[in-house]
Parts: sequence; structure tokens; C-alpha cells
Amino acid sequence: MRRFFLVLILFLLVAACEQKIPKDTETESALEVDIRNKTLTSSSDPAKGKTVYYANCTSCHNYNPKKPGSVGPDVYGSSKELLTNKILYGKYPENYQAKRTSGIMPLLPHLNQQISNIHAFLNLPLK
Ligand code: HEC
Repeated sequence: MRRFFLVLILFLLVAACEQKIPKDTETESALEVDIRNKTLTSSSDPAKGKTVYYANCTSCHNYNPKKPGSVGPDVYGSSKELLTNKILYGKYPENYQAKRTSGIMPLLPHLNQQISNIHAFLNLPLK
């Protein structure tokens, strides 16, 4: 009987000392993080685009992008090329007939990762 308990205690000791070593698969590699961030930022999600548009554009453009805003024109249906040019460089695509030539719109380069989302929102099918 005593022997049985000795063996049992030994077994429990060994079991208690066993350490769980984290496997490689449990830690996220830098590449995986990078891919995750990319899919987060370069998506074309109209819901995200709406939030970004409401927060950054509606001081001048209309909440309804089909209508002209207080300062800026209607922007519904804008192409990605137009949005990129206007938001990042303050320019228009070649041969594009600008709706207004006031030159008031500021550059918003911090939104460079959001252009696909804004584009998705501004090109939602007509209701
Ligand atoms: C401070 C006011 C202001 C803000 C903020 C602003 N815009 Fe504008 N936007 C204008 C004005 C004014 C024009 C007309 C041309 C000009 O003055 O540059 C314009 C023109 C445009 C055009 C070109 C329309 C055309 O077809 O000629 C697009 C596209 C556009 N804005 C998109 C946006 C988006 C998207 C945002 C937000 C990320 C934004 N603007 C933020 C004022 C603004």
C-alpha cells in the first residue's frame, strides 16, 4: 500500500512539473500581422466608407452624395481615379471636366488607405 502511494505521489509530481511549451503556430508572425492589416485597410467596404465620408467630407459635401453640399458638389459615382487624385493630390484625372474650379478642397492624405472604402460607398447602387 505504501508503495502505491509513493508511486502516486511521484506521478503527480512529474505531472505538475510538465510545462506547456507554446507552439510556433500560437504566436502570430510579422507576416501574418501584415496580411491582416492589409485586408483591414485595403478593403472596399461601403459601410466603412460611409463612416469615413460622414466624418471627413460632409463639412462641405452633402450627406447624400447625390446632392450638392454647402461648399462641394455632388460626388456620387466618383471613380477611384478621381477620388485618389482629388484626395491625395488635389488634381483631376486627365481630360476630366471638374464640376467646380474653386480649388477650396484641401488635401486629405491621411485617408489614403480609405479610398477604396469611400469609393465603395459613393458607388452603391441607386435606391
Ligand atoms: C473643405 C471642404 C471640403 C472637404 C472637407 C472635402 N471636399 Fe471634396 N470638394 C470640395 C470643393 C469645394 C470641391 C470643388 C472643387 C474644389 O474646390 O477643389 C470638391 C470637389 C470634390 C470632388 C470632385 C468632384 C467633381 O467631379 O468635380 C470629389 C470627388 C470630392 N470633392 C470628394 C471629396 C471626398 C471624398 C471628401 C472626403 C474624404 C472631400 N471631398 C472633402 C470641398 C471639400
